[in-house]
Formats: sequence, C-alpha cells, structure tokens
Amino acid sequence: HIMRDISGLPELEDALESLLDVSQCIVVSGDSEESAWVKSELGRACLNSIKSHLKDENIIAVTGGTTMAAVADALTPDFGGKNLLFVPARGGIGTDIKNQANTICEKMAEKSQADHMVLYVPDQVSEEVYNSFIQEPSIRKVLGKIKSANILIHGIGDALTMAKRRNTSEEDLQKIIQEKAVAEAFGYYFNENGDIVHSVQTVGLQLEDLEKISHIYAVAGGATKVKAIKAYMKFAPKHTVLVTDEVVTKSILKG
Ligand code: BG6
Repeated sequence: HIMRDISGLPELEDALESLLDVSQCIVVSGDSEESAWVKSELGRACLNSIKSHLKDENIIAVTGGTTMAAVADALTPDFGGKNLLFVPARGGIGTDIKNQANTICEKMAEKSQADHMVLYVPDQVSEEVYNSFIQEPSIRKVLGKIKSANILIHGIGDALTMAKRRNTSEEDLQKIIQEKAVAEAFGYYFNENGDIVHSVQTVGLQLEDLEKISHIYAVAGGATKVKAIKAYMKFAPKHTVLVTDEVVTKSILKG
C-alpha cells in the first residue's frame, strides 16, 4: 500500500532509503536494462553526486562491468577540475577487456583528463601467487593507492551471471549454487540475507577496507538485478550511496 502515495522520484528515494536503511539512494526514472539512455543516467546521477564530495586530491577506486563502463562514458573534462587518480579496485584480468576495471579506469582518466593506474593481476589467484604478487614493487605501489582511496564506485551483479562471466571453476560454481548466492559485488558473493558465502581471492580492495572509504557508490539497475541489489544492500556499509533505477526501486518497495 506504500506504493499508492509514491510517484515522484524524491519520494521513491526517501522510501528506499528508509527501507534499506542506508544514508542515501539516488533513483533515476526508467529501466536501465531496457534502455541505454537510462543506464547513462545512472552514470550521470552518480557523477553528479560524487562531484560535490571531491577534495583537493582524490583517489577513486572503481570496479569493472557494463554499468561502470556507463559511468565512464558519462564523464566529462569539467569533472577533472580537481586532482583525480583512478585506480582499479581489484585485480580483474580474465574477463573481457572492455569490462575490466583497468580499461574503465583508463577511460575515466581520459574522459576527465585525469590520471590512472592499472593493476595487471588476474581475477583469481592462488594463495601462493597472491603472496608473491603483493611483494612486487609495481603492484605494491598501486595497492597503496587503492588502500587510500577516498571514493569507491562499484557495480552489483546477479551471482550466477557474474560467476559465469568470470572464469569460475566448476568447484566454486557449485559452492555458489549450493550456498544460494544471489548477489555479487567486487568479487564477494552474498546470499539473500546479505551474508558472504564465497569470495574470489585477488589483490586490491578487501572487505575491511570499506569502512575507511568516505564515499562509496553502489551503481546497479534493471529488473534482473532486484534480488541481487536487495541482498547486497543488507550487507552494504551504511554510508553506501545506492544509485539505481525506478524499476528496481518500485519492485523493492513492493516487497
Ligand atoms: C563487476 C563488479 O565488474 O561488475 C561487480 O566487480 C559487479 O561488483 C559487476 O557485480 C556488475 O556488472 P554489470 O555489467 O552488470 O554492471
């Protein structure tokens, strides 16, 4: 019955914030899965909000994915009035190039006339490789920047879609299915209660880093992500700003 009174976007935003118990939700009209324009709107809305939080020097960590690619597309040179450095949040080589965080960082830097760094580390590494990678000076340099990021922008995906998009082993895939994972964000898989049920071992941002990042933006929309967004937001640090679309918002509010 809550839906009867709600039609405007600010009302939808307020209702979603209180339902999800997060500090801010930004809602754009439409369905970002159905329309590329709406997906760009997610990007623009996210960037508008970030703009108001920029300091004199900023390190912006970003994940990969098609939504982050839309954020990159929406960037313009006037965004780079401040000192900006884009870094990939985690190692992510293995998925197709255009959706990798490295590629997206490069594009963001190019479009905003800012700087970026890349992390040439696979999406998933063994413990042994992980331990030697983090000793590598060139990698340590980027990791240091990631750990001092003041802004993080990340996507949220459907668990199985993301597991298939990555080169997930059959064993891990079975685990993800068995544990009923529904959401994925920056390499962590969550069940519908927002509990972590699996994580991909790689270098870069780790869960304990989230609390220290002043501004976190989770950007995701589209009807097929409703379950994933609901689940992830149960886990999300309270200061996360969710940038989503009308379709997702109305569906979550309907319950
Ligand atoms: C990935 C992010 O690159 O993009 C994930 O690391 C997210 O956190 C995914 O789940 C979402 O992808 P897309 O293409 O749906 O935006």
